[in-house]
Amino acid sequence: MKTDNANIIRLKDYKKPDYTITQTDLTIKIFDQYTQVESTLYFTKNNEVSGLPELSLNGIDQAIQSIHLDERELFEPSYRYENEVLTLQPTAENFILKSITHIHPNKNTSLEGLYQSGTMICSQCEAEGFRKITFYLDRPDVMAVFTTHIEANRKQYPVLLSNGNPIDQGELADERHFATWHDPFPKPSYLFAAVAGDLVRHDDVFVTQSGREVSLRIFAEAHNAHKTDFAIDSLKRSMSWDEKRYGREYDLDIFMIVASDYFNMGAMENKGLNIFNSAAVLASPETSNDARFDRIEAIVAHEYFHNWSGNRVTCRDWFQLTLKEGLTVYRDSQFTADTHNAAVKRISDVEDLKSAQFSEDAGPNAHPIQPQEYVEINNFYTATVYEKGAEIIRMINTIIGDENFRKGTDLYFDTFDGQAVTTEDFVGCMEKVSSVDFTQFKRWYVQAGTPTVDVSESYDAGTQTYQLSFKQHCKPTPNQP
Ligand code: SER
Ligand code: ZN
Repeated sequence: MKTDNANIIRLKDYKKPDYTITQTDLTIKIFDQYTQVESTLYFTKNNEVSGLPELSLNGIDQAIQSIHLDERELFEPSYRYENEVLTLQPTAENFILKSITHIHPNKNTSLEGLYQSGTMICSQCEAEGFRKITFYLDRPDVMAVFTTHIEANRKQYPVLLSNGNPIDQGELADERHFATWHDPFPKPSYLFAAVAGDLVRHDDVFVTQSGREVSLRIFAEAHNAHKTDFAIDSLKRSMSWDEKRYGREYDLDIFMIVASDYFNMGAMENKGLNIFNSAAVLASPETSNDARFDRIEAIVAHEYFHNWSGNRVTCRDWFQLTLKEGLTVYRDSQFTADTHNAAVKRISDVEDLKSAQFSEDAGPNAHPIQPQEYVEINNFYTATVYEKGAEIIRMINTIIGDENFRKGTDLYFDTFDGQAVTTEDFVGCMEKVSSVDFTQFKRWYVQAGTPTVDVSESYDAGTQTYQLSFKQHCKPTPNQP
């Protein structure tokens, strides 16, 4: 955990990137001692920027083999690689940068980037793990169309997965094989995923409301093969619920979940290829209790719902984390309420909120659901950003009513599909459909702490008047006296 204040990132300093990447072609060659990553990135200059500024790409632990700018090979000092940044000077507004680097998944213990989990190799890129795979503009407002080609030993890694639809596969020399995946939906690097392993597969099919067939696949290690039934049922229930409740249909031809024994978060919503901590997806009636089943259903739903609230419409920067997490937690809580018992779900959410979030909000780590600055974004995957964030969405829903809320989410998804946006954009849609002024309400986004509401009442028998008064205050929180 980074705690020094040398490198504070502030929301108010947000600036669009000078260049963006429209297309990302990756070739990942897995060998025993290292993995070679060949990336071909298609850059375009942001037309609001004048001149040709230097290009700075994020990259951690990249052993450079070669770098080509268009057709020309670059050598130091034509590029510089220091302090986890690769810098070079473009010579045109549109250019192709090709880098070949070596990384070491078997030595990567950070559980970010590409790393070994048991016998499989898998990835975790949110929030800033992609820079451990290759050089990149590793920020969510850079959205590219990815094609990923993976090569590995067939016996050791018979299953090779990435985002999108499978477009090619075949044999190579030396008992190796390959698979190529193409994801037509532009996405930020944090939603990239790759998996190579000896995994068994549980297949199913879901037919969407418009009649498209989607292949569903859950992958697990052989000893867990009998524990995937409940997750696949949960997935089908989630897909159908999102169509009915939000009009949101799944978009690719295939949806995959991989269970990994070593995973730092509960699960991750990578486009078309969710990766889960085994504990959040695998269960059997012999060894799992009801609470485990409930949790699996909710997490499968949560990650699936991100396909719209997070992936199709994503965050402009990490200060907007609650845009996708608050909304998606709210959506998964509605799903559980609709599927089971709404009162039971609400009571359990409020219990969790009071024990985990109220205490966070009352202590030294209190922060608003939209923090204004951070040193390390990984420290902001909190009960506040997630659970309080969901309560803020719930309040918006309560204020404008169910019908307007649905109109508001339709407007939000339709307007911002394929874009990286802000919490302001979301609330703006809710204002537009309801004509409610949310100016004051938006203080919930920037004010930490749990407000206290005092209620007093009095009755005057003479005039037969009953008076109810409310008073609200919020104790000081760090940096917010
Ligand atoms: N984005 C992931 C999730 O919320 C990280 O935990 O599902
Ligand atoms: Zn989430």
